Amino acid sequence: MDFTGKVAISTGAASGMGLLFAQNFAALGGNVLLCDVNETVLQEKVAEINAKDGGRAVGVICDVRDYAQVCAARDRAVSEWGRIDLVVNFAGGTAYRMRGVDREKYSEFPDVPIDVFDWGLDVNLKGPFYFAHAVLKQMREQKEGLIVNIGSIMGVEGEGYGMEYPTAKAGVMYGLTKCIAQYGAAYGIRCVCVSPGPVLTRPNMASMPTLLGRAGQPQEVVDLVLFIASDKGQFINGDNIMIDGGRSAMPREWS
Ligand SMILES: NC(=O)c1ccc[n+]([C@@H]2O[C@H](COP(=O)([O-])OP(=O)(O)OC[C@H]3O[C@@H](n4cnc5c(N)ncnc54)[C@H](O)[C@@H]3O)[C@@H](O)[C@H]2O)c1
Repeated sequence: MDFTGKVAISTGAASGMGLLFAQNFAALGGNVLLCDVNETVLQEKVAEINAKDGGRAVGVICDVRDYAQVCAARDRAVSEWGRIDLVVNFAGGTAYRMRGVDREKYSEFPDVPIDVFDWGLDVNLKGPFYFAHAVLKQMREQKEGLIVNIGSIMGVEGEGYGMEYPTAKAGVMYGLTKCIAQYGAAYGIRCVCVSPGPVLTRPNMASMPTLLGRAGQPQEVVDLVLFIASDKGQFINGDNIMIDGGRSAMPREWS
């Protein structure tokens, strides 16, 4: 794959799959804007990418919950490189983990302070929605572009504790992705959702069962995103693609 001259925005790019995608995209010749709220780590990672051969990286502090910051990120990419070919919405995660909720103190869903769920809904659902609204203006002018949303197996399974995460992910997987694809088609813009099962960006994900008896590697998810963006992936559009080792096909217990 060769992304020379292409421009991507990766959100949640200071760590995990957002960072790995940015590193891969630049190594394959593309320029990449890394967005995150973690300023120190972000700038370190940007410098590491720029110390290697390939495309250029720029880091921007961007809280995906803030529409003005999302627009500023879009504008920075356009002022640096003149266009945006691809946005990948990696920023996200379960609010109780990312907000450090004490699960013993707040043991059931209605006990968890509502602002925790506000945060989760905003990052996981409103963030991709805001990015779509902001970058579609640019992609419409270009008459070309791709938005890749990141869903989750939890959007299929649901969960009775951290309810905001499956709710938000299902909204992205089965709602937003189709909506963007419908709007974008007239302008040559595609939208696809990639929904992982357990991925080893954290060691504890190894304990989530899959049919294959293992969790996924971050690189396996990033490879799928790169394929969708590449010349070979151009007919993939408007759909949710599970990459979960067969977890969503696992048999249910009878008792
Ligand atoms: N790891 C898994 O097992 C798994 C499984 C299914 C889906 N996913 C999804 O994949 C995506 C990436 O997961 P990961 O494990 O690589 O993530 P991660 O936790 O390693 O990284 C998330 C990044 O998002 C950033 N972030 C948090 N709040 C933000 C905000 N408001 N604005 C911008 N950036 C923000 C964090 O600083 C962090 O760098 C997430 O959307 C996650 O829900 C992950």
